[in-house]
Amino acid sequence: MDAATTTTPAVLILLGPPGAGKGTQARMLEDTFGLVQLSTGDLLRAAVAAETEAGLAAKAVMEAGDLVSDEIVIAILRDRLDEPDCAKGVILDGFPRTTVQAEALDGLLSENGQKISAAISLEVEDAEMVTRISGRYTCAGCGEGFHDTFKVPAVEGKCDKCGHTEFKRRADDNAETVASRLAAYHAQTAPLITYYESHGVLQRTNAMGKIEDIANDLKNIVGHAMS
Ligand code: AP5
Repeated sequence: MDAATTTTPAVLILLGPPGAGKGTQARMLEDTFGLVQLSTGDLLRAAVAAETEAGLAAKAVMEAGDLVSDEIVIAILRDRLDEPDCAKGVILDGFPRTTVQAEALDGLLSENGQKISAAISLEVEDAEMVTRISGRYTCAGCGEGFHDTFKVPAVEGKCDKCGHTEFKRRADDNAETVASRLAAYHAQTAPLITYYESHGVLQRTNAMGKIEDIANDLKNIVGHAMS
């Protein structure tokens, strides 16, 4: 192992359709490896709530289940990557989603002397994603994710992570929007699996099992990619 390998921050990508478990697994990896989760979905939802120019442009697109423009998303991600905490290494959750975004990321990383440690494809059947998304809710305090059936709080009505007692559901987690989000994934994001395979950084994992089993598989993949 050379010095450059040990000092260059890790850059991990979680690829996968809506509801594949990217956010759930990214938060677990963040805790295990001391990395920073960067979710472009969360960054865009924050921009929508703050009514920034980007947020106002993104709102209707997100509600329709389409992809926000590459220009807006790349600008948001670039600003976030410049923040000091990202020097610890990052897990990209929901970015890139198009070939244009993937190429922009390669450019941003190479400017900083960084490269992608691994792009991990979470592989799930479409029907399972609808079940996962329709039962999803998150803690209004810390954003921890839960599910009506698959991940309920240990104490009913109380977040396991921060103890908050209020929860929320996303506006785009409805049947029509989920269908559009899946279509956008298959048309625009799934080709990135081949993109990263051809760059020699692709890892595939079966994401149909239990959350804890998938977390263990990912821990092995990420541990290896960071060694
Ligand atoms: P975004 O917020 O990224 O949503 P998404 O990709 O649709 O993914 P989700 O957050 O819905 O799912 P997830 O894979 O994180 O699953 P989770 O862990 O929550 O994007 C939203 C919108 O923003 C997009 O539609 C687009 O408009 C825009 N956008 C964002 N990034 C963009 C970009 N780069 N370019 C352009 N536009 C962009 O899990 C789901 C549920 O299942 C949870 O309840 C969880 O508890 C449960 N669960 C997780 N794993 C399991 C398991 N193994 N078994 C059972 N249940 C499980």
